[in-house]
Amino acid sequence: MYVDTHCHLDDTRFNVDEEVNSYLRVGVTKVINVGCNALSSKKGQELSKKHQSIYFGAGFHPSDANDYNQTTEDEIIKLLSDDKCVAVGEIGLDYHWEPYDKQVQQKVFLRQLELASEFKLPVSVHSRDATEDMLKLLKDNKSKLAYGGVMHCFSGSTETAKILLDLGFYLGFGGTVTFKNAKKTVEVASLCPNDRILTETDCPYLSPEPYRGQTNSPKNIPIITSFIAKLKNIDNVEFASIVMKNAEKLFKF
Ligand code: NI
Repeated sequence: MYVDTHCHLDDTRFNVDEEVNSYLRVGVTKVINVGCNALSSKKGQELSKKHQSIYFGAGFHPSDANDYNQTTEDEIIKLLSDDKCVAVGEIGLDYHWEPYDKQVQQKVFLRQLELASEFKLPVSVHSRDATEDMLKLLKDNKSKLAYGGVMHCFSGSTETAKILLDLGFYLGFGGTVTFKNAKKTVEVASLCPNDRILTETDCPYLSPEPYRGQTNSPKNIPIITSFIAKLKNIDNVEFASIVMKNAEKLFKF
């Protein structure tokens, strides 16, 4: 049984019924649709009502941080007490796409860490070109991370990985670990303790090899899982079950 801990099935390019059928067929039994704003978080909730295998995260992506206000926060708060809401996310910092406002992103991120603590939920964190600020914020706000979290699509250094692991984080690995130029990510995945690894697609983005460049889907999770199992020299079925246990422990589903 496989798990996709971070996907965007609410993306308009998906026919969700078809996606669900095709990922169930290859043994992916649980997926988490993370939200990027109030609308996509709400869509995640709707998908989770329709499909048993879909759980959801609610939150504001850093690229949408400018739209975070009392009204949109209230919409997120309404979603956080849903039975199938298993995370606050995706939230974080992204200093890649200009224009961005570091102050606004940090404020919105911190506020959502507070919500995670208040609603006793783990966080699904996005960090791009923001490692220094991210690590500082997480270290300074450790008390708000009592319910844990995952650094999604981790592609940082082994040093950064160690700091995150010390903070209790799980590391999420996706299609990028299979890319030819992913030496650093391969190294981190090899070193990461088995009980801290999660698999994810971030679909529709970041398709694994040999489908790089195409629309990604949770049905590609077995490719990612077996790639990492091979790196770690563990039986594929055994590794898939370890990853599922990790996900069940963090997200309590
Ligand atoms: Ni994402």
